[in-house]
Amino acid sequence: MSDGTARFTLDPAFTIGDVSPRLFGSFVEHLGRCVYTGVFEPDHPTADAAGLRRDVLALVRELGVTVVRYPGGNFVSGHRWEDGTGPVERRPRRLDLAWRSTETNRFGLSEYIDFLRKVDAEPMMALNLGTRGVAEALELQEYANHPGGTELSQRRVSHGDKEPYGIRLWCLGNEMDGPWQTGHKTAEEYGRVAAETARAMRQFDPGVELVACGSSSQSMPTFAAWEATVLEEAYDLVDFVSLHAYYEEVDGDRDSFLASAVDMESFIDNVVATCDHVGARLKSKKRIQLSFDEWNVWYQARFRDAGLPEWDEAPRLLEDNYSVTDAVVLGSLLIALLRHADRVTVACLAQLVNVIAPIMTEPGGPAWKQTTFFPFAQASRYGRGRALRVDVDSPVHETARYGEVPLLHATATMDDATGAITLFAVNRSLSEPLPLEVDLRGAAVGKVIGHGVLADADPEARNTLDAPDRVTPRTGQGTTLADGTLRATLEPMSWNVIRLG
Ligand code: AHR
Repeated sequence: MSDGTARFTLDPAFTIGDVSPRLFGSFVEHLGRCVYTGVFEPDHPTADAAGLRRDVLALVRELGVTVVRYPGGNFVSGHRWEDGTGPVERRPRRLDLAWRSTETNRFGLSEYIDFLRKVDAEPMMALNLGTRGVAEALELQEYANHPGGTELSQRRVSHGDKEPYGIRLWCLGNEMDGPWQTGHKTAEEYGRVAAETARAMRQFDPGVELVACGSSSQSMPTFAAWEATVLEEAYDLVDFVSLHAYYEEVDGDRDSFLASAVDMESFIDNVVATCDHVGARLKSKKRIQLSFDEWNVWYQARFRDAGLPEWDEAPRLLEDNYSVTDAVVLGSLLIALLRHADRVTVACLAQLVNVIAPIMTEPGGPAWKQTTFFPFAQASRYGRGRALRVDVDSPVHETARYGEVPLLHATATMDDATGAITLFAVNRSLSEPLPLEVDLRGAAVGKVIGHGVLADADPEARNTLDAPDRVTPRTGQGTTLADGTLRATLEPMSWNVIRLG
């Protein structure tokens, strides 16, 4: 029985796993204004010689993004990679069927790689397995990664990029289980194409890391059967299976929304179980990793109501403006990923700029941070090293969607080089503060270095063009560490980062 205080014990001997730096990835899709007037706006006052917005580059660096998935998303399933290469004036304008937009191709492969180098992030390239297949995947791989001396690699050199791009991480298509996907396939059809593409790509480079499409969400009717069938075909040929999940508040049910990580954690557990079941059937010692390469809060109902454009260039699409409530949920989703750091070794916040994004821009105007920027930046900065095992004993409350849920959602990481420990904690109660006690028995930490809080008396508070700094993290009060016990009070509906050294 809980006395109203949430508790857990932290012992550095009990580890979940090393946190992969790739857990802090993001996603740039040719969708709406993510690319055009987002990362790329040649006429912007801050644009560099390549047309990249320097104000956005600075924010992306501050966000701490380690990997950027590109160029889609649904967009990739009708995309011809060659369109985004070579002299800009010769690049074709194309219809993008996924988002009913016109694609100018002014930004393409070379610009993406240049962008990554400027923000110090790794490429994660998605392949079109919707309208295309093995041959085009191999051509892209050779164009991108072969040093020179062949038609395709020399084409890249002639386009101004002498050095190969060195892309290691590839997605074998996008959401191929979804009927909305251009070139949608059954699990059997996709499993064969994924396996054949993977086999061929490994002939070029055995060291590539390949992600097979899992389900587009846990609620898909084919969920789990899809993963099992695809992996029966491709288990030995791929390294990861993908997961996608988006959450939103429905019908004012904020308690369930704040518990969205319950779904995310069960999704992860179920995909791990499915992968390991196939591994057991195949008598394989190999363990498939999870790539949670699309996750976020996304108000899909608003998007459905707004409808799609009529072939506009860079239309305003999916430009959700996030509240402090959304940011607390996003923090909780980050906690869920860290709690599964042993198996989730790639994750991409979808997306990076303007489109369901932590960074917003105005064409010709400023760039600013949404509320969701802060938990991501803090987790990327401090959530490194080893994820420690955290089993909470917490007061609970009832939610319509997930039943009884603990009010505390928490994880912790330890940096072995310094011995510093960071706790990440969310109080899911809308109205009540949550007292927290952490027994730090085996941990050699003596003081609280800092307690950052994201919370607001107004759960609807958000940052906008007119008030870009309305919501920012502040310092938590009254947090102490004495006699091996940390004591804190977590404000109602708050995201907390407590650093111990
Ligand atoms: O991120 C927006 C869209 O969500 C992506 O294009 C697609 O993969 C997913 O359904």
